[in-house]
Amino acid sequence: MIGCFLFFLGSSALTAQDFEYVGAKKCKMCHNKPATGDQYKKWADSKHAHAMESLKGDEAKDPKCLKCHSTAGSVKSDLIVTLTVEEGVSCESCHGGGSKYFPNAIMKDKEKAKANGLKIPDEKTCIACHNAESPHFKGFNYKEAKEKIAHPTIKI
Ligand code: HEC
Ligand code: HEC
Ligand code: HEC
Ligand code: HEC
Repeated sequence: MIGCFLFFLGSSALTAQDFEYVGAKKCKMCHNKPATGDQYKKWADSKHAHAMESLKGDEAKDPKCLKCHSTAGSVKSDLIVTLTVEEGVSCESCHGGGSKYFPNAIMKDKEKAKANGLKIPDEKTCIACHNAESPHFKGFNYKEAKEKIAHPTIKI
């Protein structure tokens, strides 16, 4: 009995429910250095960061469009802490809600970061939005698309 109870607590402690969304500005604090790859700037210059600009007038409030054009529109509203709709498709759409992994002591240890919600995205991550439900779907080639948004870490 006690074993079962502990197992239940242990597994529920690792559900996505615990990972809240903090927004790209939090990631910018550390991932904004040209010497290590400037991930923030690469994202900020990408179509993902500007995805809200494609929505005109009331479309910018339409949940049917927001669910793909904005991270904030694609996650449960009670998990949003400092994420804004305006930042479009931001880091956490692909890397998971950052509330628990963003502190340096956790981030610098990849395994700890993953245990605290960090996701290393794969094709499935992208296909959640890059699919035929999009009114402007142009097809999706993971390898090419991944190249286009690449923002690798440069080891120093
Ligand atoms: C306090 C500093 C800090 C903050 C804030 C931070 N990171 Fe990191 N991050 C690091 C460090 C340090 C590493 C490990 C060394 C490296 O790869 O640069 C890392 C690594 C990563 C990795 C690579 C994991 C791997 O090894 O493959 C990803 C992805 C990542 N961070 C995403 C994010 C996202 C998304 C946010 C915002 C929610 C964020 N980070 C906020 C410091 C930070
Ligand atoms: C299932 C996800 C999804 C939904 C829902 C969605 N979009 Fe998009 N939208 C995308 C993606 C992904 C692209 C990039 C085009 C591509 O590469 O397929 C895009 C591109 C666009 C573009 C740029 C046009 C172009 O040719 O690239 C506009 C404008 C746009 N969407 C408007 C809307 C509007 C308005 C709605 C709501 C009625 C909407 N989208 C709903 C995913 C979506
Ligand atoms: C559209 C999805 C997407 C968005 C948005 C995104 N990333 Fe990534 N990120 C990826 C992919 C894909 C990889 C490569 C994963 C792999 O190793 O195959 C990656 C890798 C990384 C890495 C590790 C690079 C390495 O070489 O180890 C860091 C650090 C990172 N992202 C940080 C960020 C930060 C910070 C933001 C926001 C400013 C961000 N990412 C936004 C998809 C995304
Ligand atoms: C939360 C939804 C979402 C996710 C997840 C997502 N994307 Fe996107 N992506 C979009 C939208 C929306 C656009 C179009 C932005 C615009 O132009 O308005 C887009 C545009 C792009 C573009 C630019 C297309 C062009 O016409 O130049 C590339 C490349 C891309 N995405 C690659 C990826 C990759 C690779 C992944 C997964 C690692 C990914 N995306 C995950 C929503 C998403």
